[in-house]
Amino acid sequence: MAALVRFAVESAMALMAIVLLLRTKPVDASPWLVTTWTPSHATFYGTYDGAETMGGACGYGNLWWRGYGLNTAALSEALFNNGATCGACFQIRCDTTNPDAYGVKFCYKDAAPITITATNHCPPNWAKPSDMGGWCNPPRTHFDLPLVMFSYMAQSVAGIIPVQYRRYLTISRYPARGAGGIKFSLGGNPYFNLVLVHNVAGAGIVTAMQMKGDKTTWCTMTRNWGQNWECHVKFTGQKLSFMVTASNGSFRRIDNLTSEVWYFGQTYEACSNF
Ligand SMILES: *[C@@H]1O[C@H](CO)[C@@H](O)[C@H](O)[C@H]1NC(C)=O
Ligand SMILES: *[C@@H]1O[C@H](CO)[C@@H](O)[C@H](O)[C@H]1NC(C)=O
Repeated sequence: MAALVRFAVESAMALMAIVLLLRTKPVDASPWLVTTWTPSHATFYGTYDGAETMGGACGYGNLWWRGYGLNTAALSEALFNNGATCGACFQIRCDTTNPDAYGVKFCYKDAAPITITATNHCPPNWAKPSDMGGWCNPPRTHFDLPLVMFSYMAQSVAGIIPVQYRRYLTISRYPARGAGGIKFSLGGNPYFNLVLVHNVAGAGIVTAMQMKGDKTTWCTMTRNWGQNWECHVKFTGQKLSFMVTASNGSFRRIDNLTSEVWYFGQTYEACSNF
């Protein structure tokens, strides 16, 4: 009888543990893939002209030429994922669910969520504790925004605000990116191709790249930095083709994007996008 009771109690406890486990299991373990509103924080940098947003660890260079403008953010280590998150879009809004949270009183009520593309890395600051200045230290998720973007959500006097964020997936065009096809900026030299892939719609995150000339086979490219991909094959004098794989598994094959005559330093735009 006692054994039976113990069995019943143990079964009930095991069941509860499973229920708890299921309930506490995050929707998605990777913070850069969440598609439901998730708590985080945001700060800002720079001034209203946004001059400081140029460049960045994703390798996009001039963000205006690339169509991203000021709708950008630097992501903390945990979100940046070694550059693999470059190009992903996120929506961010003030998190007013906790009225006592620091900075929340500076949030604008009913402000629309902002939409940004990840273009930069907010590196850890090990000299500061993660709850006092080391905002971008792992495992924290954090967004460092151009002042203009921050100002859509809150008064800048707040310094840091509680936010909620989620990945923003689009079928095609949307304001955080320029319209049109996937763009390839060809860098490097005849023996070292360094291709920046940008203006990628949909998931935004490129997980694999391949490149070929009309006289070669496909070269599987490796990520050099940000969204710059490299391949050590000589392609000069050949029509270039590309294959781009996005984080959701979809891929686009772009045949003969260029003619036999193409130039390093030029950007070529495909007719298709995700
Ligand atoms: C990936 O995302 C694109 C753009 O959002 C969508 O069209 C496509 O169906 C998705 N592919 C998969 C395999 O989910
Ligand atoms: C690309 O160009 C090569 C060489 O001119 C040609 O053989 C091939 O058929 C072209 N591919 C497509 C899909 O147009």
